[in-house]
Amino acid sequence: MEVAVLGATGMVGQRFIERLVNHPFFELSDLAASSRSAGKKYGEAARWVLDSAMPKEVKNMSVREVDPKKINAEIVFSALPSEIAREVEPKFAEEGFIVASNASAYRMEKDVPVLIPEVNPEHLDLLEVQKENRGWDGCIFTDPNCSIAAAVVSLKPIYDKFGIKSVFITTMQAVSGAGYAGVPSMAITDNVIPFIKNEEKKVETEGLKILGRFDGKKIIPANFRVSASCNRVPVLDGHTESIFVETRKKGSIEEVKKVMKNFRSLPQKLKLPTAPENPIIVREEEDRPQPRLDRYAGKGMAVTVGRIREDSILDFKYTVLGHNTIRGAAGNSVLGAELLVKTKKI
Ligand SMILES: NC(=O)c1ccc[n+]([C@@H]2O[C@H](COP(=O)([O-])OP(=O)(O)OC[C@H]3O[C@@H](n4cnc5c(N)ncnc54)[C@H](OP(=O)(O)O)[C@@H]3O)[C@@H](O)[C@H]2O)c1
Repeated sequence: MEVAVLGATGMVGQRFIERLVNHPFFELSDLAASSRSAGKKYGEAARWVLDSAMPKEVKNMSVREVDPKKINAEIVFSALPSEIAREVEPKFAEEGFIVASNASAYRMEKDVPVLIPEVNPEHLDLLEVQKENRGWDGCIFTDPNCSIAAAVVSLKPIYDKFGIKSVFITTMQAVSGAGYAGVPSMAITDNVIPFIKNEEKKVETEGLKILGRFDGKKIIPANFRVSASCNRVPVLDGHTESIFVETRKKGSIEEVKKVMKNFRSLPQKLKLPTAPENPIIVREEEDRPQPRLDRYAGKGMAVTVGRIREDSILDFKYTVLGHNTIRGAAGNSVLGAELLVKTKKI
């Protein structure tokens, strides 16, 4: 199946390329970016910032404009800034493309699934409702915000087993979360910035939608309280989060560890090519997870949980770490597209 990347020169776009070159289901047919890059060879237009080398397959590809008439593919992976995504993603869906979006523009629309393949695969059925509502041949499904992605993967087995009453989340978010050149080095070096615009609202709302129940027509959000406090820290990749949980049924710390360790879902059963063997890795060391040591767990698709312990106010607390441009963005989208293909929903 031919696929294209919109916003291919950016931080998330590069992660898409890394994961799509030599993919068993997908063939990378087109790359698109802004008018600054369109018309150039990818190798000239992109400032490659990943540890791995730029794949030779893309160096000489011509960068296209972000225009459905100029793109040849069935699925487009969108890594566009939100305001651009708002304008162009519906045009692609109208023209029959399946849009796997990383932008926040359509996440909270009632007929748009926010997909974490291990958490809410059944929400993909909302795409039929969306096509009917909007009269589109194609469709849009989105990734969650990069912080809530890691948090929700870790909360899913707890939610299913014990129910959740309330959650506090304090994030320590990597600079790559703001895109390339997103945070000036003079602002972040030797510093912590206790503010990320619009982030706390996303963390407080998106998880409830993802953990919500699909009733055949709409998603009924999960019913618990979330309070978030978001910080930018001088780490390159990998968002670390302190999570405090109050559950409906009480469980011991050992039971909490067990449900997290044993968590497997549809992508694992279907053996999707980029599904991690264990979506949640539980570490017992007193000082893990750490971004430098744990961000590539499961090739960046596993979240790492540690320091699970009792809390003196709520029930228990722990630290979770997830790779923001892999599990929190491109990797999660590619896994979602694999799920769509394998379950023949497209
Ligand atoms: N970074 C993360 O951890 C993360 C995680 C989850 C979701 N997201 C979301 O993913 C999206 C991309 O983020 P990013 O971090 O990759 O940003 P980025 O590094 O700034 O890259 C932005 C991309 O969009 C293209 N672009 C910019 N303006 C455009 C325009 N007017 N028309 C067409 N293309 C345009 C850029 O092309 P040029 O190179 O030609 O300018 C570049 O390819 C954003 O919506 C972001 O919120 C990011």
